[in-house]
Amino acid sequence: MKFAVRYYTKTGHTKMLADAIADAVGTVAQTVAVPLEEDVDVLFLGSAVYATKLDDEIVKFIDSINVNVGKIVCFSSAAILSGTYKQVKQAAEAKGFTVADEDFFCKGAFGIIAKGRPNADDAKAAGEFARKFID
Ligand SMILES: Cc1cc2nc3c(=O)[nH]c(=O)nc-3n(C[C@H](O)[C@H](O)[C@H](O)COP(=O)(O)O)c2cc1C
Repeated sequence: MKFAVRYYTKTGHTKMLADAIADAVGTVAQTVAVPLEEDVDVLFLGSAVYATKLDDEIVKFIDSINVNVGKIVCFSSAAILSGTYKQVKQAAEAKGFTVADEDFFCKGAFGIIAKGRPNADDAKAAGEFARKFID
């Protein structure tokens, strides 16, 4: 199976989760600035909540995809809200992509809220989550 991992981060948390996921499935995580250049079975797409929203860079990336993607698997973090799954799903389905029912979410520190997250346990859990998509 062919995997790709793309993410957008402002403070490094999503990169930490993306690297753990990429390690688990044997690829290298890259930011959404790097276009997908070949068809993939699974695209792990990482994002976070900023001012209650998904960053527009994620939507732009989804809009830019012009290869075949079997399914998109979302992973995200946030300090208070429960992640970006619904927003990513909406943007991706609007473009005709299939989004996996299951996503990965963990807390992500913002100021004094959720300090220290994501931590090593979160990264490990992200990797274990990703392994479920290896046939
Ligand atoms: C500018 C900014 C705004 C944020 N706004 C929210 C928010 O509205 N709700 C929330 O739950 N978390 C919020 N957070 C917390 C982030 O979702 C959390 O820190 C996440 O892990 C950041 O991921 P990143 O380091 O990959 O950018 C905000 C963080 C930043 C930096």
